Amino acid sequence: MQLHVADHPLIRHKVTVLRDKETKSPTFRLLVDELVTLLAYEATRQVRVEECEVETPLTVTTGTKIADPAPLIVPILRAGLGMLDGMTRLIPSAEVGFLGLKRDEETLEAITYANRLPDDLTGRQVFLIDPMLATGGSLVMAIEYVLQRGATDVTCVCLLAAPEGIDHVREAIGDRADVSVVVAQVDEKLNEVGYIVPGLGDAGDRLYGIVDH
Ligand code: PRP
Ligand code: URA
Repeated sequence: MQLHVADHPLIRHKVTVLRDKETKSPTFRLLVDELVTLLAYEATRQVRVEECEVETPLTVTTGTKIADPAPLIVPILRAGLGMLDGMTRLIPSAEVGFLGLKRDEETLEAITYANRLPDDLTGRQVFLIDPMLATGGSLVMAIEYVLQRGATDVTCVCLLAAPEGIDHVREAIGDRADVSVVVAQVDEKLNEVGYIVPGLGDAGDRLYGIVDH
C-alpha cells in the first residue's frame, strides 16, 4: 500500500477551517469540494491514458485521453457522497458505483447496507472516496468488495486519517493489489471510541517512511 499525504499549505489551511466548530454547513461543503479537487489532482496522477489523434485548426496531432475502460468512482455513503462532485469534475467520463457502509458504533465493525458496484471490475481503476479513515474497517471492506470483482488498482481518497486505520489497511491488503491512500492529513491517533483525534499534521511523515509529497 502506498500512502500519499498531500502536504500543501492550501490544503492545511482548508482542513483547519473545515475543523473549526464555528464553520457553517455551506462553507463546510464548499471546503470539502475544494479539498477533493486538490486531492483528486494528486490521486489521478497514475490514471490510465492512451494516445489519440486530435484535429486542431492547424494540423492533426497526437494527444492523450483517459483509457477505456473508464475509471470507477465509488463514494462510501453517506459522507463520501459530499466528495463525489469534486471527483467527477476532474474525471467527467468516470462511471460511478455506490457502497453504503455504516460503522456499528459499539463494535466499530462496518455493516453493508447498499452495494451497487459493476460485477466485473477487471482492468478498471477504482477510486474509493470517504472523508474519514478511522479504524479502517469501512475502507478495508470497500477495498475487499472491489478486489473480489477483479480490480487490482485501487486509489482511496480521504480527507482525514488515523495512523491506526492506515496500518489496518496496509496489513489487511498486503501485496494483493496496488492500493494507494491519498489523504489531506494524518492525525495523531484514535480515541477510546474509535474517533480520529486531531493532531499534528505531519504525524504521517514521522510514522511512515514511504510518504511522498
Ligand atoms: C464514517 C466515515 C467512514 C467511517 C470511518 O461513516 O465516513 O465511512 O465512519 O470509520 P472506520 O474507519 O472506523 O470504519 P459512518 O459509518 O459514520 O457513516 P455515515 O457516513 O453514514 O455517517
Ligand atoms: N466518524 C466520524 O465522524 N469520525 C471518526 O473519527 C470516525 C467516524
